[in-house]
Amino acid sequence: MTTSAALPRVDRTERADALVAELRLAVGRGLPPDLTAHLAAECLLPHLGAPDLLTGAQLTGDAAQYRQHLLHAEPDGSFSLVALVWLPGQHTSVHDHLSWCATGVHLGEETERRYRLVPDGPTARLVATGDVVNPSGTVCGFAPPGDIHRVRNSGTGTAVSLHVYGADLARLGSSIRRVYQLPTEG
Ligand SMILES: [Fe+2]
Repeated sequence: MTTSAALPRVDRTERADALVAELRLAVGRGLPPDLTAHLAAECLLPHLGAPDLLTGAQLTGDAAQYRQHLLHAEPDGSFSLVALVWLPGQHTSVHDHLSWCATGVHLGEETERRYRLVPDGPTARLVATGDVVNPSGTVCGFAPPGDIHRVRNSGTGTAVSLHVYGADLARLGSSIRRVYQLPTEG
């Protein structure tokens, strides 16, 4: 995933338009970040797996790396909606985020490995704290800090997930705050 280039916007289906309207109401309540993330996850839930949510182009992967389709960036910068398409085995870096985040698996299966940062003399290392397998139809929401993780497509087919971030991805290009290249355990 790039960290600086702005992303092109794409067309949306009517169902995705409805989802954006629901997210606007949820985010507009102005609750703390962790609660907003959970509300956004609840918005995603009824749309996961629906065949009319994404266009064919938005379900298309890229052999080079997992692919990001920006479905919406709210003009006031309060949230963005992204569809990520992963071919089998594709994964992110170990990273954390600029903002709260809600995710839902639309198709396939993803596995998240979570880490915590442990001081190690003058530097630090990452210790894995657990793996979470997310099949299609599952959601989660979280807010920094303590959100270091790595996500991969752990299934045998294409995986597609929806991500809502409390940031303007049309401007930022990515939700990633930092990519970690420290030694890892686990
Ligand atoms: Fe992430």
